[in-house]
Amino acid sequence: MKHFLTMLELSKQEFEEILNTAKSLKRAQQQPLKGKVLGMIFEKPSTRTRVSFEVGMQQLGGHAVYLNKNDIQIGRGETVADTSRVLSRYCDFLMARVFSHSTLEEMAKYSSVPVINGLSDIHHPCQIMGDLLTLQEKFGKLMGLKLAYVGDGNNVCNSLLIGCAMAGVHISVGCPNSHAPNKDVIREANNIAKSTGSKIEIVDDPVDAVRNAHAIYTDTWVSMGDEAQKEEREKIFKNYQVNSVLGHYATPNWVFMHCLPAHRGQEVTNDVIDGKHSVVWDEAENRLHIQKAILAFLDKRRSI
Ligand code: CP
Ligand code: NVA
Repeated sequence: MKHFLTMLELSKQEFEEILNTAKSLKRAQQQPLKGKVLGMIFEKPSTRTRVSFEVGMQQLGGHAVYLNKNDIQIGRGETVADTSRVLSRYCDFLMARVFSHSTLEEMAKYSSVPVINGLSDIHHPCQIMGDLLTLQEKFGKLMGLKLAYVGDGNNVCNSLLIGCAMAGVHISVGCPNSHAPNKDVIREANNIAKSTGSKIEIVDDPVDAVRNAHAIYTDTWVSMGDEAQKEEREKIFKNYQVNSVLGHYATPNWVFMHCLPAHRGQEVTNDVIDGKHSVVWDEAENRLHIQKAILAFLDKRRSI
């Protein structure tokens, strides 16, 4: 049985299979998960992840159960291991959004059904799979594109490093040295890149990152859990805003990407997110299609 916590669980072939399934599910509705149930545990708020998984399960013929951490016994001290053992007796899949990635690893260890990462402090793989689908739709290919990520080396940035390396997309991260991506993730991404030809670089000048990029990606400077550092972070990142001046260094048909929610006037200006380069609403939509494909893939793998 496979879990989906980081994308590293996937071979290159499986990665491509999920992208292709998402395209086919986007073209025509299918119901391969009739009667199946997804349990969704949330330690943090969510708009896209919650709604796209819930709608996705319904479209696949199944059902989703929303479980806020404060409303279940985990909030009163029942262990993650026991919760996972019990929920996997009722549900066919579990999805969780957690503060610490180790909580997901614990869940996966004790679950008898596939566990999906709906965002942790280190990874956000469902987001990045949907983003790669969006890039493929916009450019007709992935291999050889260059994506520049500008801002905080956070969970979204870490998963982009892995996803781009798997897809053969070159990735340049422009971030302050003090807020670089996770070192283990960079090492994993470099390993994968050896076989796909993806070039990976981490620089501190956003202009260097963006030169000749096909896509410029950014995310909030203050992730969920980092709120105490809000003021400090706003100072550190003020030169890492994606605006139309920065866009001039990219290729003429560059696309603007953001996982959302956006903080307009901080990491991105209104003219960029609302302008002709922006593909953010397509990214949000593609969360639905890619997650349906991930669920269908995990279900199929279980029955092999
Ligand atoms: N991008 C994303 O995961 O959005 P939510 O926090 O709304 O789920
Ligand atoms: N990096 C952000 C992503 C939100 C979808 C966070 O963790 O809050």
